[in-house]
Amino acid sequence: MEIISKIKTMQEIADSLRRENKKIGFVPTMGALHQGHLSLIKAAREQNDALVVSIFVNPLQFSPEEDYESYPQVMEKDTELCEQMGVDVIFCPEMAEMYPPLPLRERDGVRETTVERQSMCLTTVHVSEITSGLCGLFRPCFFQGVTTVVTKLFHAVKPHTAYFGQKDYQQAVVIKKMISDLNMDIEMQILPIIREKGEKGLALSSRNAYLNPEERIQAGILFETLRIAKLMLDNGERDGVRLSSWMKENIEANPLVLLEYAEVCDTEILKPLFQIETRALLALAVRIGKTRLIDNMIWEQAG
Ligand code: PAJ
Repeated sequence: MEIISKIKTMQEIADSLRRENKKIGFVPTMGALHQGHLSLIKAAREQNDALVVSIFVNPLQFSPEEDYESYPQVMEKDTELCEQMGVDVIFCPEMAEMYPPLPLRERDGVRETTVERQSMCLTTVHVSEITSGLCGLFRPCFFQGVTTVVTKLFHAVKPHTAYFGQKDYQQAVVIKKMISDLNMDIEMQILPIIREKGEKGLALSSRNAYLNPEERIQAGILFETLRIAKLMLDNGERDGVRLSSWMKENIEANPLVLLEYAEVCDTEILKPLFQIETRALLALAVRIGKTRLIDNMIWEQAG
């Protein structure tokens, strides 16, 4: 396994693999790898000749008050896991190459913070409409940061197929639209959410590491709400407003959990559904203490 930090070197490796007609699979991550990431890596390993995993905590997708500075970084453990999973290349680009600082004049006296670093990337990729609701309402910088960094990573890794998790459903839909709108010659796969074992069913996330034992118990409300909402749909509920109101109430009944959103949406344009027909996205975001958690479920009419 190689660990590559230079963009140019990554591109040369990709070019040489492509010349040999090797299929390149790519799993972009921010590290602190868990079984959710590993499920993507396993699928990508099985389906490709060469497998690249990127590890890069992308400042562009964090708002200034968010957890960029404290985001878990465990490179040694991640390297070991990648080695075990048969990864060929870990791509961990340098910050200075991904977002080269603009030359600032001494007298500007500007310190480099996340905010200033954002303005240093003068070119960004923006997907409209489907980024405005759900997480987009609460994380205004997020999707533009994601689509910009994923585009940059695609240009470095030149994958045939890229793998993303349904855990971040809106992110996956946004990237899929970007690939299609910008005619990127990349196949995209979206793989199921991996959850903790047991009935609490907490979706695995690098941010779960922030939860204390009491908060971890409270976090069970996410999957519980989704599971019951799905049962209501199975039993014939078709009113999206009534169902999302129930989801909100069920979460808000818990005083330690702060609701961001609980929505019943169309699975592609991600707008609230008033009348549910054969398919719906149930999507949640909450804060528990200082931790933000999201989860979702796709409901489809049986048969
Ligand atoms: P990160 O949160 O590290 O997630 C990397 C990939 O793992 C994403 O596609 C995410 O949906 C997937 N993933 C996370 N938890 C999962 C789970 N429990 N089950 C299945 N898949 C899961 O998402 C990002 O990084 C970044 O935004 C990135 C796309 C790398 C751009 O910076």
